Amino acid sequence: AKVAVLISGRGSNMAALLDATKAADYPAEIVGVLSNKAAAGGLDIAASHGIATASLAQSRFPTREMFEDTMTKVLESWEVDFICLAGFMRILGEDFVNRWRGRMINIHPSLLPAYRGLHTHERALADGVTEHGCTVHFVTPGLDEGPSILQARVPVLPGDTPESLSARVLEQEHRLYPEALRLLASGQVALA
Ligand code: GRF
Repeated sequence: AKVAVLISGRGSNMAALLDATKAADYPAEIVGVLSNKAAAGGLDIAASHGIATASLAQSRFPTREMFEDTMTKVLESWEVDFICLAGFMRILGEDFVNRWRGRMINIHPSLLPAYRGLHTHERALADGVTEHGCTVHFVTPGLDEGPSILQARVPVLPGDTPESLSARVLEQEHRLYPEALRLLASGQVALA
């Protein structure tokens, strides 16, 4: 299966997906990386692996629909079967989400349904929870609301800061995302 990764920044999850998908028995390959930020560090990582890249600034388009239609054209030109959102910081419109229904997944740094949205590590620490983690889920029109595919848990430790906690979660993200994409691309999981 052909996969595009959508990013806005660093791209460490994208890099983890790239590494995993290189294994001969992996059921998917990354065919392109699309960013809504031209300066996203992940674009350089992808390019250095010889992967097609594109960057599209939403501000250059008169409407979100036109921005998203152009994204779709790029994705279709790459003959994409599945989309992985990996730190893509734009909320996607319902038309785009529905077009890719069951074929688009996201990684979120919390144990959903806890802590949808931003600043998950700060909020978890402020609440004094003892467990935190990350979730890969199907993308549906409600933000961070689609059904979960896999979760990974980490302990919250005494003295944790948002940085130390996010680093512990990120290590799990890099393991979890390739596992979840494998389930999707091999047909072992599907959106009902
Ligand atoms: C990750 O924590 C991911 O869960 C969240 O945004 C961050 C992206 O990091 N959605 P990276 O760009 O993959 O390094």
